[in-house]
Amino acid sequence: MKIGICSDHAGVEYKAKLISYLLGKGYEVVNFGTDSEDSCDYADFAHPLANAVEKGEVDKGIAICGTGNGMAITLNHHQGIRAGLAWGTEIGRLVKAHNDANVLVMPARFISYRMVVNITRTWLNTEFEGGRHERRIAKIPVK
Ligand code: RB5
Repeated sequence: MKIGICSDHAGVEYKAKLISYLLGKGYEVVNFGTDSEDSCDYADFAHPLANAVEKGEVDKGIAICGTGNGMAITLNHHQGIRAGLAWGTEIGRLVKAHNDANVLVMPARFISYRMVVNITRTWLNTEFEGGRHERRIAKIPVK
């Protein structure tokens, strides 16, 4: 599985560690930046990740910024993206099981790196439940 990943400066440290973790687990990883702690704008990294997910160039995405909200708001402007913010493992499970999130977003300034790994592992190992949730996600796109 190929995972695209991005962050702004607030998430860059966790992103770098998470890339190493994912590579160690055998995932392919495409890094969309940033790779600097210099202040930057989350949208400059969220849009390229979203485009890659929409085009099928990567299977899933992970995005990290300070609160997670800048990334989530930007990513969810893309019709093909369901980006879900998770700050705990149960939310990480539900955002896949119920919302079929194809991008996982996490808030670097509010959770530990250990939690980032736990959420990521949970989200990657959870299946979408379908059923009533299939009907619900089908109603999300703006017609
Ligand atoms: C950066 O300071 C911060 O605004 C950003 O990481 C994010 O939290 C925005 O939503």
